[in-house]
Amino acid sequence: MNSNEHTTLLQGSNQRKKSHPSLPQVLNTNKKKIVTMTCFIVILIMTFFIQMSDGSPFFHHNNTLHSNRKRNVIFFVTDGMGPASLSLTRSFRQFTEGLPINDTLNLDKHLIGNSRTRSSDSLVTDSAAGATAFSCALKTYNSAIGVNPYKQPCGTILEAAKLDGYLTGLVVTTRITDATPAAFSAHTDFRVQEDLIALHQIGEYPLGPVIDLMIGGGRTHFYPRSDSKHVYGTHGTRQDGRNLIDEVKSNGWQYVGNRDEFDQLKMGQNVSLPLLALMADFDIPFEIDRNSSIYPSLEEQTVTALNALNEASKDCDQGFFLMVEGSRIDHAGHQNDPAAQVREVLAFDRAFKAAMDFADNTDVETILISTSDHETGGLTVARQVTKEYPEYIWLPQVLANSSHSGEYTKNKIIEFSRNLKDDDVEDNIKEIIKFIKKEILERDLGILDYSQEDVEFLARAKTADVIQDKINDMISFRAQIGWTTHGHSAVDVNIYAYTNKKNTWYDILDHLQGNHENIEIGQYMSNYLNLDLGKVTAMINETKHSPELSVKDLEKGLIYDDYHHKLINNN
Ligand SMILES: *[C@@H]1O[C@H](CO)[C@@H](O)[C@H](O)[C@H]1NC(C)=O
Ligand SMILES: *[C@@H]1O[C@H](CO)[C@@H](O)[C@H](O)[C@H]1NC(C)=O
Ligand SMILES: *[C@@H]1O[C@H](CO)[C@@H](O)[C@H](O)[C@H]1NC(C)=O
Ligand SMILES: *[C@@H]1O[C@H](CO)[C@@H](O)[C@H](O)[C@H]1NC(C)=O
Ligand SMILES: *[C@@H]1O[C@H](CO)[C@@H](O)[C@H](O)[C@H]1NC(C)=O
Ligand SMILES: *[C@@H]1O[C@H](CO)[C@@H](O)[C@H](O)[C@H]1NC(C)=O
Ligand SMILES: [Zn+2]
Repeated sequence: MNSNEHTTLLQGSNQRKKSHPSLPQVLNTNKKKIVTMTCFIVILIMTFFIQMSDGSPFFHHNNTLHSNRKRNVIFFVTDGMGPASLSLTRSFRQFTEGLPINDTLNLDKHLIGNSRTRSSDSLVTDSAAGATAFSCALKTYNSAIGVNPYKQPCGTILEAAKLDGYLTGLVVTTRITDATPAAFSAHTDFRVQEDLIALHQIGEYPLGPVIDLMIGGGRTHFYPRSDSKHVYGTHGTRQDGRNLIDEVKSNGWQYVGNRDEFDQLKMGQNVSLPLLALMADFDIPFEIDRNSSIYPSLEEQTVTALNALNEASKDCDQGFFLMVEGSRIDHAGHQNDPAAQVREVLAFDRAFKAAMDFADNTDVETILISTSDHETGGLTVARQVTKEYPEYIWLPQVLANSSHSGEYTKNKIIEFSRNLKDDDVEDNIKEIIKFIKKEILERDLGILDYSQEDVEFLARAKTADVIQDKINDMISFRAQIGWTTHGHSAVDVNIYAYTNKKNTWYDILDHLQGNHENIEIGQYMSNYLNLDLGKVTAMINETKHSPELSVKDLEKGLIYDDYHHKLINNN
């Protein structure tokens, strides 16, 4: 098969009921003190607001709230996952595991509707506006993090929940400062202001610390370049020279920065909140590339968060709000990498199932809502690869044969080329060609029918993007999977829900069954927890949210996000 001939190629580039680990029956005395203190502080803060609220138009305090039953909300975001991703992944799983055609994903069983995703300034949203629609229940412009279309900070569900006594958490596989988690926990005019987002997340803004638990990547924005030989990592990029990791540790946070320390958390049974777990300098690797002795899975991160929040809120009147993101489904979409994407979706599906198991095993009323901010890649589960009438087929075996992403194999080729000692370019190309054939195509990607032309193309490619696009297209073409963009698309995305209480199930269906605007999902969660987002908006109006640097400087110095930085100019 020669992928150079086909016409549908996208040219160019971007540019079984298993129960979760049970909680220990007895808390050690230290932990009890912390838990009690958490609740105590919450009560103090609440008393303060109740007193402040007298006569103020911003504080409609409703005492029935306190007598309400205890609730947990687990909100899932599958970044960039459209309906086609589900079809792709379901068939892939049936194929690779030899399952019958009526075997579906965990998510499939809980589909209740779909969501329209446009932002205030475009029919095609980005993740910043998409997540702000959930967190603040309002439409805003692409690139906006927790601010409205006029760049005014808007109170989020996470913040309002914290102020009402809930514990709060964020679990992601990208940088914790990336758009989706940021929109719940920070307020900036542009998503690229990740240094400032990190400051808000550790509590440096009018509300103080509101996040009890963060697990993800993105360490780079928590320590400076000058500390890059530091124990924490090798890619610190903070511009202001501050080491936020040292700062939060001295303020009593527990910090976790590697697999050994993560394992000591005992899946959430040995956690002292607040917890900052930064498992990678940038993003956590794709599931297909993940080395489990270095990085935990999304399921492990999620179970750790659930157990930790559950245990800490055990003696409290309120439960918790946790946001879990399958963050890198989006990246696989941007890169047009179907082999990486199916593993990302499966990893997410396992995390969702673990949360269902958690809900089934707790007496606290718990709801799970899962949706996407948008679709990415314009994925289609079929592709015409010859001029003749299209075949009615796609080939999951191609994805099954591939054991690494285009991102990973691209880096491997670049690394190999960089380490070649020979001064003779053509000699080097010969070495690279041999490496690409044996190590990359045959071993990593399971492609045996490559053409000499394709191998030469890869060996002589001038940029990393060209290599990655070529590899991903060789896989997509052979699997007969189509992509229409390296960006996002406007297709409606699915809504899933689950709860452990029947009446609540009817309530969810009343509000979210069928086709809805994305902001209705945020509004529903806010109403469900009796939150007053307007109250929070009034409290955070003096948050620093605009960039100090010009947009130009921001683009020069701070950005390594390949897919979304251009959006900074979008408004
Ligand atoms: C408090 O909230 C409940 C339920 O949301 C509502 O029925 C009641 O009217 C509210 N009371 C006040 C004083 O706002
Ligand atoms: C799938 O189909 C088989 C055979 O008809 C049936 O026994 C099984 O219960 C079905 N499973 C599901 C999940 O519907
Ligand atoms: C619990 O965590 C502490 C550090 O916070 C660690 O010293 C201890 O070894 C952990 N316990 C277990 C059983 O891993
Ligand atoms: C995973 O990481 C460990 C620890 O760094 C290393 O020893 C091992 O070789 C790695 N496994 C793979 C498959 O790369
Ligand atoms: C998958 O790999 C096997 C074993 O290497 C090979 O025989 C088969 O042709 C491959 N299938 C596809 C569709 O690439
Ligand atoms: C924020 O709100 C307070 C109280 O309403 C007001 O006094 C203050 O001027 C506002 N600040 C800004 C920057 O709008
Ligand atoms: Zn994206």
